[in-house]
Amino acid sequence: MESKTKLYIETYGCQMNIADSEVVASILKESGYEITEDIQLADVILVNTCSIRENAEQRVWGRLDVFRQIKKKKPQLTIGVIGCMAERLKEKLIEEEKTIDIVVGPDAYRDLPGLLENAGLGHKAVNVLLSREETYADISPIRLDKNRISAFVSIMRGCNNMCSYCIVPYVRGAERSRDPKSILKEVSELFEKGYKEVTLIGQNVDSYNWKDENNEKFSFGQLLEMVAQVSPTLRVRFSTSHPKDMSDEVLHKMAKHANICRHIHLPAQSGSTRVLELMKRGYTREWYLDRIKAIRTILPDCAVSTDIMTGFSGETEEDHLDTLRLMKEVNYDFAYMFKYSERPNTYAARHLKDDIQESIKSRRLTEIIDLQNELSSKSKKEDLGKVFEVLVEGYSKKSKDRLFGRTSQNKVVVFPRKNYNIGDYVQVEIIDSTSATLIGESVN
Ligand code: SAH
Ligand code: SF4
Ligand code: F3S
Repeated sequence: MESKTKLYIETYGCQMNIADSEVVASILKESGYEITEDIQLADVILVNTCSIRENAEQRVWGRLDVFRQIKKKKPQLTIGVIGCMAERLKEKLIEEEKTIDIVVGPDAYRDLPGLLENAGLGHKAVNVLLSREETYADISPIRLDKNRISAFVSIMRGCNNMCSYCIVPYVRGAERSRDPKSILKEVSELFEKGYKEVTLIGQNVDSYNWKDENNEKFSFGQLLEMVAQVSPTLRVRFSTSHPKDMSDEVLHKMAKHANICRHIHLPAQSGSTRVLELMKRGYTREWYLDRIKAIRTILPDCAVSTDIMTGFSGETEEDHLDTLRLMKEVNYDFAYMFKYSERPNTYAARHLKDDIQESIKSRRLTEIIDLQNELSSKSKKEDLGKVFEVLVEGYSKKSKDRLFGRTSQNKVVVFPRKNYNIGDYVQVEIIDSTSATLIGESVN
């Protein structure tokens, strides 16, 4: 028997990229490739890349150095760069790094089998065409994550928002929604395979917008409800919500279905309306706080997390203090926090100066992280004594006698294993907490 060509995929960036790598794996498996987790065995290495910040790209350049060394010993190895950095840099990537054979953007993955075949014959190639329609709706992704409990389901691609700092609209193209029938089919199949949780993903899930044959509009709220109805024992999460578009309809659908998890990731970016305007985010501080109020009213037990970006063009000390005050007022359970990194050709790069000194960005970021650490530990303290339903995802890193899982609010809980297994729902009382996790005991 002829042995199959072995494919190794490495993924950087957001959930969209993780989901895309699973689509890529599926397309190439159909063409006869075999997935390997051992890079040394690979005939083809694909790196799925991110351009969101300068340091995300630096990491990929570092990996390409490593791949070049591997290729020195194995000249028949094919190396492909796919994803957002492929889209941003196009043929420049091959000019810059001779070890690369193919460059393929996020909407051109169906072309991978052909491009790889040609690369095997010595022809380098680039396909970075963006599409207005491609959603890979008919492709059933191959799950690369080992856990078999939780999966990402892409519901849309691209972004139409054009936040002034952001590279995503340039590398992912225009927003398009995926046919709800194909989403429902994918979710149902996952559930039948034993998956217990799906996360519906898109850059702005609230602007999900499908029109059927009769031009009837289908909203994110409707989609969410339909997915929640697959089974009450299937947990449903979603990300990312956009403050300008998050509707009460979605919050009411969540309230109606207990299996839609009590967690909303609502990136604020800044607490200053002046900065939000420069960022072209489409909302004010007051609007954002109104959305938080709606969450607190309709879903009192809902956790809220955010993204904060510090040191954007012209951000004053007062703007920064506004961000800290917003964080305190909202009381975030969790946050991702970044320094602004100017991205070539964005509106901000063309029209606004990256004028906050690196040392000031660092100091502000530290203040933001310190505050969030306080808020996160406060949020965990408030859970002490409460009982949560935990979906078990695996064994704790430290011991096989302990399991870990998440609450509906997306907080990680570690507790003694007893007779429970991965995939079980367990009622757990919280008895303690560390900086990152809750510690609990199962109760009957
Ligand atoms: N669509 C999501 C964000 C996706 S990018 C949303 O609108 O909320 C994830 C996060 O990266 C953003 O929320 C932002 O905080 C950060 N980010 C985006 N562009 C950035 C840049 N140029 N520099 C630093 N952080 C950035
Ligand atoms: Fe980027 Fe804004 Fe789109 Fe999010 S909504 S991906 S930050 S342009
Ligand atoms: Fe990065 Fe592309 Fe996601 S730029 S954050 S991988 S959409």
